[in-house]
Amino acid sequence: MARLSALFALAAAAVAVSATPIVVRDSLVTLPIARRFNSTGAANIVKADQARAKTLKARLQATKVSPVDTAAGKIFPGINVPVTNQAIIYTASVGVGTPPTSYELIVDTGSSNTWVGANKSYVNTSSSVDTGAEVEVFYGSGFFFGEEYTDTVTIGDLVIKNQSIGVAEIAFGFDGLDGILGLGPDDLTEDTTSVGGEVPTVIDNAFAQGLIHAKVVGVSFEPTAQESVTNGELTFGGVDYKKVTGPIKYVPITSTSPASDYVGIDQSITYGSSRIPILSATAGITDTGTTLVYIASDAFAAYQNATGAVIDNNTGLLKITPDQFANLESLFFHIGDATYEFTPNAQIWPRALNTLIGGDADSIYLVVVNLGSPTGEGFDFIDGYTFLERFYYVYDSANACVGFATTHFTYATTN
Ligand SMILES: *[C@@H]1O[C@H](CO)[C@@H](O)[C@H](O)[C@H]1NC(C)=O
Ligand SMILES: *[C@@H]1O[C@H](CO)[C@@H](O)[C@H](O)[C@H]1NC(C)=O
Ligand SMILES: *[C@@H]1O[C@H](CO)[C@@H](O)[C@H](O)[C@H]1NC(C)=O
Ligand SMILES: *[C@@H]1O[C@H](CO)[C@@H](O)[C@H](O)[C@H]1NC(C)=O
Ligand SMILES: *[C@@H]1O[C@H](CO)[C@@H](O)[C@H](O)[C@H]1NC(C)=O
Ligand SMILES: *[C@@H]1O[C@H](CO)[C@@H](O)[C@H](O)[C@H]1NC(C)=O
Repeated sequence: MARLSALFALAAAAVAVSATPIVVRDSLVTLPIARRFNSTGAANIVKADQARAKTLKARLQATKVSPVDTAAGKIFPGINVPVTNQAIIYTASVGVGTPPTSYELIVDTGSSNTWVGANKSYVNTSSSVDTGAEVEVFYGSGFFFGEEYTDTVTIGDLVIKNQSIGVAEIAFGFDGLDGILGLGPDDLTEDTTSVGGEVPTVIDNAFAQGLIHAKVVGVSFEPTAQESVTNGELTFGGVDYKKVTGPIKYVPITSTSPASDYVGIDQSITYGSSRIPILSATAGITDTGTTLVYIASDAFAAYQNATGAVIDNNTGLLKITPDQFANLESLFFHIGDATYEFTPNAQIWPRALNTLIGGDADSIYLVVVNLGSPTGEGFDFIDGYTFLERFYYVYDSANACVGFATTHFTYATTN
C-alpha cells in the first residue's frame, strides 16, 4: 500500500504541473534510430504485445518481496517495469564508457532504466564506477538482473557523465539486442535498485548537466515495408520541426491510474464519416516499445463490427477481404481538442511483411488489436508504434505532457 500511495502522490504532483508549451532552444541533439524485424523470432507479435500490456497494467499490483540471497548476490525486489521482447523494434546505437563501446538498445518510452550487456558484454573503462548496488527489472516474458554502474553514456552528440546503467549478469528475452534505452517517466525506475528510490534517467542527467535545455524527447518514426531500415530519429532537448506538417498539440499526462505512471493520455476513438463510437473517452498509454494499437475489448468488438473483419488464427490479427478494405474508413483518435486521422492504409499491416508474421502474402491484416479487458480499468489502450509512425510524438517529462503532430507520413500510402 505504501507504494500505491507514493505513486498516487507522484501522479497528483505530475498533474499539478500545467502542460505549458515547450520552449525549444538551439541545443537539440538528434540520433538516428533503426527499425528492425527479427524474422527468425516470434511470428506472433500479438502474443508478445499482449504479454507486455498485461505486465504494464499489472505493475501497481506487483507485490513487494524481501531481498533474497543467491549465488549472484542479493537479488532485490523488482517492480514490474515493462520492456520489449518482440519481433519488431526500434533500436538506437548508444555508447557506454571512455572510449565508448557501442550497444544496440531498444528505444522505450514504456520503461526508464537504461542497461546493457544482454548480448555484447559491458566493457570496463576509466569512467566505469561500480555503485555496489544491484538492479533488476522484470517484464512479461523475461527479465534482466545485474550490477549498477555509473558511466559516461554517449547518445549522438550528447556525452552524459555519471549515468546510472544496469550491466546485465542475467538477461533473457532480448534476441541478440544489448539492452534498453529507457525514456519513460522517472517513477518507473522506483525500487529497481537495491538502494531503493528512483534512478535518474538519461534525460534527467542530460538536463542536469546542461547538455539539453528541456527534458523533452521528440520521436519521429516512419512507416516502412522493409524488414530493417534506419528511418527514425530521436531528438533530445526539443522537437525537430522539419518532421512535422502541422502544429504540435500538447495534452497533460492522464490523471487516471495506472496509465498515469506511463506516458499515459486520455483519448476517445470514432470510426468513419458517421463517427461510429469505438472507444469512449478513457485513459491508456503511448509506447514506442509496443508494435500494434491495442484497444479495450468492448471497443475492439465495435471496431470489428464496423469493419466486418474476422480474427485470423495464424497471425492473431483481424483480417479483411479486398472488398472490405476498399470500404474501410478512417479511425479518428480524439486527444485533447485535436483529432488525429488514422487512415485505412495506416490501419493495415504492411502487406510486404505479411509472411514474416505468419500471414498469407495476399491477405489484408489490421493493426488494431484486442487489449483483452473492458474499458474502465485505467489502462484501456496502447498507442504503439504503428500509430506513432503516422504522427510526430513528443514527451516532455518536466511538464508532464505529451504532444502529437501530423507528418509527411500521416496520409501516406505505404502498406
Ligand atoms: C532473432 O531471434 C532469435 C531468437 O528468437 C535470436 O536467437 C537471434 O539472435 C535474433 N537475431 C537478431 C538478428 O536479432
Ligand atoms: C570492472 O572493474 C571493477 C574494478 O576493477 C571490477 O570490480 C568489476 O567486476 C568489473 N566489472 C566488469 C563487468 O567486468
Ligand atoms: C552520480 O549520480 C548518482 C545518481 O545516479 C548521484 O547519487 C551522485 O551524486 C552522482 N555523482 C556525481 C559526482 O555527480
Ligand atoms: C551479439 O554480439 C556479438 C558479439 O559481440 C556480435 O557479433 C553480434 O552481432 C551481436 N548480435 C547482434 C544481433 O547484434
Ligand atoms: C454493429 O454495426 C451495426 C451497423 O453496421 C450497428 O447497427 C450495431 O449497433 C453494431 N453493433 C455493435 C455491437 O457495435
Ligand atoms: C480459430 O481458432 C478458434 C479457437 O481455437 C476456432 O474455434 C476456430 O474454428 C479457428 N478458426 C479457423 C478459421 O481455423
